[in-house]
This record gives sequence, structure tokens and C-alpha cells, in this order.
Amino acid sequence: MIKSKGWDWKIVKDDDTCIWKNPSMESFYLINRWKSQNKKDFLDLGCGLGRHSILFGKNGFNVSCFDISEEAINRTKKWANEEELSFNYQIGDMLKLPYNDNSFDCILCMNVISHTDTEGMRIIINELKRVLRDDGECYLTLGSKDTPGFKNSDWPMVDSNTKLRMEEGPEYKVPHFYVDYNLAKELFKDFKIIDIHQIVNHYEHDGKMNESYHYHLLIKK
Ligand SMILES: C[S@@+](CC[C@H](N)C(=O)[O-])C[C@H]1O[C@@H](n2cnc3c(N)ncnc32)[C@H](O)[C@@H]1O
Repeated sequence: MIKSKGWDWKIVKDDDTCIWKNPSMESFYLINRWKSQNKKDFLDLGCGLGRHSILFGKNGFNVSCFDISEEAINRTKKWANEEELSFNYQIGDMLKLPYNDNSFDCILCMNVISHTDTEGMRIIINELKRVLRDDGECYLTLGSKDTPGFKNSDWPMVDSNTKLRMEEGPEYKVPHFYVDYNLAKELFKDFKIIDIHQIVNHYEHDGKMNESYHYHLLIKK
């Protein structure tokens, strides 16, 4: 199995306009959904700079922040302190989560669990199942095989679903695992899949328009 590698957040500026400081659109839906289900204990798996931890904390959830990057956890902690929010913090590898069985009502893995290979993905999915309570829900994203980074790049293959990203930046040489619809369904067959859809993001980079494709899954234990 490939060795885990987190993001190099030291090269990402703490700028309020940066996408990693502004919550995703999906997170606002999840706040409403999980509040209405009386869910409380929330894990921000691979929290990055903490944009979702802060949002969920402000909305009354008990937040656990987890990331392999010490810099990510330190910056999330600093931001939470400024907002006078108190969270639980752990640095570690998602292949072995440092939590007891049945610890969480809800888990968010936004652009995180794809940072492994096929063997690692199966381990992470078992970890999600283990730490989620019965009826607990998890929202996660997975890179899609339709994305040019998988289809067209000459990045090195790790296995038939996984490439090493070679673009300079915070995710240089971080593994990226990709799915198609059938693989996504097969991986989460032990969960109830509430929703699965693919999103295409159009964005400008170095003066050129780019596209990236992700599957989004809402699953229940
Ligand atoms: C694309 S960022 C997303 C951050 C955050 N979820 C967000 O939406 O803003 C991916 C995060 O996953 C973390 N990560 C990558 N591999 C990991 C691993 N094996 N265990 C824990 N975290 C990991 C990275 O360090 C990084 O903070």
C-alpha cells in the first residue's frame, strides 16, 4: 500500500478569500439535515484549515478535527480560538482513526479520503463504519475517473484506480484515488447509499479554464 502523505499547508496563505477558508455549499445543507436529526458529535475528517469545523462549531455541534498535517491542525486550532470555539484535535492517519467504535453521529470527508490507493480506500471505509454510530451519516467526495487528472494526465499510476499528482503545489506527490459510478457503489455496499451524484467544477488556473469531476456520496450506517 502507498505511504500516506498529507497536504503541504505551509505553502497555502491564510487568506480569507481562499476556497479552503470558505465552507462548501454542501455543508450548509448538511448542517440543516443533521441538526434536524439531532446529530451532535461531528468528525471533520481531514479538516484542512478548518472551514467546516468552524461552521459546524458555530452551529452547536461537538467538533472533532482530524488531519495528518500538523500545520492544518495548528491553523484550525488558531482560528477556533479566535472564534472562542472549543474542539477536540488529533493529528494522525485516516488509515487508523484514533477514536473508539461508535463515536460519531456524523462525519464529513470533503476531498480527503481519495488521498490513498485502492487498498487504503478499503481500510478507510472500514474505519468510517467502525467510528460511526448506528444510523450515523457520512458525506464524502471521491475523485471521478472522468476528471482530466485521471483520464489525460501522464502522472504515474500507483494501481488501476490511483495516480500520484505531480502538479507543483500543496498536493505535490499526494496519491489520488478515482472511481466510476459502479466502483463507488461497490465500495460502499455495506452502507445505505442515500445519495450519489457527480459534480463538475469549472475553474480558472494559470489563465486557462479547467474542469474537475467528483462523486459526492451521502451514506448511512
Ligand atoms: C483537499 S484538503 C481538504 C481539507 C478540508 N476537508 C476542506 O474541505 O477544506 C485534504 C486534506 O486531507 C488531509 N489528508 C490527506 N491524507 C490524509 C491522511 N492519510 N490522513 C488524514 N488526513 C489526510 C490533508 O492533509 C488535507 O488537509
